[in-house]
Amino acid sequence: MANASASSSSSGPVLRRNNFIASSHQRRNNNGSVLRIFFLTLIALVVALSALAVHLSLRVTARQSSSTLSSSSSSSSSLLHPPPAADGMHENTRIDTGSSSITQDRVYCMIPFIWNPEIYNAIMETWGKRCDTINFLADSIVGGQLEGDKILDDPTNGYKPYYDYPEGTFPSNVVFINMTRSWFDCENDSDDEGGKSGEVKKVCRHIWEKMWRSWVYVEEHHLDQAEWFCKVDYDTYFFPDNLKYFVRHKNWNPYTEYHYFGHLIQHRTRKDAPMIVGAAVCWSRKTLDDIADVYRTMPKGSKRGERGRCEDRAHATEEVTTSQCLREHLNVTAYAARDEELREYITIDDYARVLTWNRTEQGEWWFWRGKPQGAGDMENAIAIRPIGLHKYKKPDQIRELEETFFGPADSKVISRLKPVAKTYVKKVRKAMGVDEL
Ligand SMILES: *[C@@H]1O[C@H](CO)[C@@H](O)[C@H](O)[C@H]1NC(C)=O
Ligand SMILES: *[C@@H]1O[C@H](CO)[C@@H](O)[C@H](O)[C@H]1NC(C)=O
Ligand SMILES: *[C@@H]1O[C@H](CO)[C@@H](O)[C@H](O)[C@H]1NC(C)=O
Ligand SMILES: *[C@@H]1O[C@H](CO)[C@@H](O)[C@H](O)[C@H]1NC(C)=O
Repeated sequence: MANASASSSSSGPVLRRNNFIASSHQRRNNNGSVLRIFFLTLIALVVALSALAVHLSLRVTARQSSSTLSSSSSSSSSLLHPPPAADGMHENTRIDTGSSSITQDRVYCMIPFIWNPEIYNAIMETWGKRCDTINFLADSIVGGQLEGDKILDDPTNGYKPYYDYPEGTFPSNVVFINMTRSWFDCENDSDDEGGKSGEVKKVCRHIWEKMWRSWVYVEEHHLDQAEWFCKVDYDTYFFPDNLKYFVRHKNWNPYTEYHYFGHLIQHRTRKDAPMIVGAAVCWSRKTLDDIADVYRTMPKGSKRGERGRCEDRAHATEEVTTSQCLREHLNVTAYAARDEELREYITIDDYARVLTWNRTEQGEWWFWRGKPQGAGDMENAIAIRPIGLHKYKKPDQIRELEETFFGPADSKVISRLKPVAKTYVKKVRKAMGVDEL
């Protein structure tokens, strides 16, 4: 059995080589005309030169087959004989498929940003390095002391546009987006911890304008850099390789199919369509390509409140409007990224906390509303190949997650975890093969 398969797999190339040697012998015997050889050589040269003009993989193939040829026959006949057509096709197809399976699912990470070097560095030193492309789309007005969403200093104090800063101030993957609305002139808000309204100054959430302008920019400048484009909030710890795993598993085609996916919530209010929550949301290249046209041409500058339209508007909720635009113009609906066991690939809150949410006990609050019965809860709430874990606003937290999921298996960070979180982390590391590397 083993013998049979071994010989059948090797018989192909052997046969081909014998055939070739036989035919080249015949040719040499059948005609001695120097002129004819010269002529054929010229033709072969032209063929070889045009082969050089096509892309790299083809060139590699040509070189491979010509070296095979010259090792199995005289040098003149290797020149005479361009790679056999059928064979060449076969090899090219194989190599193309090979390289496309490497490049087909490149991940573009787009991070809406307000310039903040501490967070920038934390992301770039951790999960950001696993994106095929990563760009921070920052508001063009720069300044201030931020802690998460909180503004610590007085915004009238020297905030200025990025181009007034000396050259070299910002890394090259920070792209500045001119906004019509400012991020620092909102009324004071309440604290995240639920303090009194008006106590803290926070960054304004003109996230919808930021988002659509950013996607238009990415589509105009970077469309060819990836197949999958994800908006990743700066406070989401992202796993680009698990995203690739997910789309390959689905066998999705980014060039011909619309996809828009993430953590789906069904009903925030009754009139909202199902939508993907902010933390991380991805779409295929085709979706980006077409939605950018919609964004460029939709009505701008509305001062009206929410009215269920795809338009530029102050105080719009980004998630709601994005799904509105997709549905209205492209007939695309949001897809829930869950694994076979209905575990979520993207969390909306700290993973250790999500792993304690018991649906039976909690009842159907908005998080559970509309989720299928049997959707995982408690320790089965999150996929073991997570794509995004949300709510880590501090650089230290981002680095701690890096150590948890990619650092040594016996780190203090892991040993400090509660049992449920620890079990989960071990499953994730195992699924990703971290400890085998
Ligand atoms: C933003 O505005 C500045 C100044 O007008 C301009 O130089 C720059 O090109 C604009 N950026 C974009 C991305 O349009
Ligand atoms: C807004 O909050 C900041 C602290 O973050 C405080 O210093 C300031 O006085 C507040 N402004 C108003 C108008 O309440
Ligand atoms: C929209 O998509 C659904 C499937 O998702 C399809 O059944 C329907 O015919 C589409 N509508 C239009 C107008 O293309
Ligand atoms: C969830 O809560 C219910 C009701 O309190 C309980 O019976 C069940 O055991 C809990 N599930 C887990 C996995 O702890």
